Amino acid sequence: MQPSRSNWLALCSIAVIVSVVGLLFCGCSPGPEKKKASAPEAKQSEASSQSPAKPEPSTAVAEPAEAKPAEKSAAAGPKPPLGLPPLPIPADNPMTPEKVELGKMLYFDTRMSKDGTVSCATCHDPKMAWAEHTPTSTGIGHQKGARNSPTVINAAYATSQFWDGRAKTLEDQAVGPVENPIEMGHTMTAVVAQLATIPDYQARFKKVFGTGVTKEGFAKAIAAFERTVLSGDSPYDRFVAGDQSAMNDAQKRGWETFRDNCATCHTQPLFSNYRFFNAGVGSDKPNADEGRMKVTGKESDRGKFRVPALRNVADTAPYFHDGSVAKLEDAVALMAVGGKNNPNLSEMLKSVREANLGAKEQKDLVEFLGALSGKYPVVEPPECRSKSALRPLGIAGSTFRVRPSAMRSLFISFNPKEAAGTRSMPTMMLPREVVPRSGV
Ligand code: HEC
Ligand code: HEC
Repeated sequence: MQPSRSNWLALCSIAVIVSVVGLLFCGCSPGPEKKKASAPEAKQSEASSQSPAKPEPSTAVAEPAEAKPAEKSAAAGPKPPLGLPPLPIPADNPMTPEKVELGKMLYFDTRMSKDGTVSCATCHDPKMAWAEHTPTSTGIGHQKGARNSPTVINAAYATSQFWDGRAKTLEDQAVGPVENPIEMGHTMTAVVAQLATIPDYQARFKKVFGTGVTKEGFAKAIAAFERTVLSGDSPYDRFVAGDQSAMNDAQKRGWETFRDNCATCHTQPLFSNYRFFNAGVGSDKPNADEGRMKVTGKESDRGKFRVPALRNVADTAPYFHDGSVAKLEDAVALMAVGGKNNPNLSEMLKSVREANLGAKEQKDLVEFLGALSGKYPVVEPPECRSKSALRPLGIAGSTFRVRPSAMRSLFISFNPKEAAGTRSMPTMMLPREVVPRSGV
């Protein structure tokens, strides 16, 4: 199953990395069909919320610049774990091992932020279930944002991104944090110019996109990497697949209660229908977050947020858009009483309230949510053992300070076991300068 590349030996560590990532795609079901991400527009009316949006299959059209013959075969993407539907991959951003690897480098690179201290992984840390265990995020200069950092796990399936759905795709989303004054506080123009001074990035963009460093390529590579962050094969999935012993009695009871009361919004298989509802969380705050209304301008969307997907929810505390609830028990308790009263509270949550779920049912619900935790990949940040490996960053007058976390971003490793969903020790790639056999 080794990718047979004639330049395997000659291309030293880069080729090794690329080939190892190639293993990730070996388990793919082959076939010309790809799925695209353009699921139907999320509808705002509650009436339509019963029918969850499903990704529509479509035949992929490969972009000439990206589909070099050698890469085409791997473009179908990874095989999703048990219980997850086919991965929606936009026709104009096919997945290749090289693109995923580039996206991974960018994801961990703190040079994306203005002061060189924050990367995507700061707030979506693979070790924290690709989220962050603080109520709201802290970006550059210790600035606090107003919203809780959602997990990147299974974000590939969402029909919109952000709590208010203001970005449509992962590609649209990826450039947002860079220019957000609180998160990374940079401009894409400056980031692109900066990356273009780094020979390794130049070479990788050229190889993957056939261009120099571009904003579009940046977004596509990060999105392709994020599409490898999947979690399924949970006790629930094994139960549904026929293994009666995969869930205990409390979880089975919890599943029934959940199906009757919660699944209209938290719809399987991702446990979200990706629509927007008002659950009243934070509505009593002085400057309550307007939520979806910020995007649509409609008063009727005030305080509505996108239904969070609940896979691995037990691992992503704290909860809700404002991170205001620390424990899963308390988050379930709030939902089980139909949310917090406010003029715009969802009618559907009012019916949850009428069901009058008691303490025992709530306990079972918590147990059941625990059964939604599957294995997810824990990707180690790029590692670097030698300071001599650092290359000049090439920005005159830049205030960039090199911190260990920034150094790590220069070198990457990829353990194929991670892709299979097992937690594993990092594979350490040595920087080229100190690997004599690399041939560079
Ligand atoms: C300072 C912390 C911070 C940084 C840095 C950051 N994010 Fe986020 N991210 C957040 C927060 C907070 C949200 C939710 C914001 C909202 O909904 O308005 C979010 C939302 C997202 C989402 C949407 C997930 C969903 O379910 O809607 C994705 C995907 C994502 N970020 C990926 C990235 C990528 C890629 C980067 C790097 C380019 C990045 N983030 C950098 C904090 C951060
Ligand atoms: C009307 C749709 C709807 C129904 C029904 C519903 N939820 Fe939710 N749920 C939401 C929305 C919207 C949010 C996010 C609210 C926010 O952050 O302001 C949410 C958030 C959650 C969260 C927090 C997840 C996170 O990552 O922050 C949990 C846990 C949860 N719901 C469990 C349940 C349970 C259990 C039930 C059934 C008793 C239920 N929900 C019924 C819409 C719904």
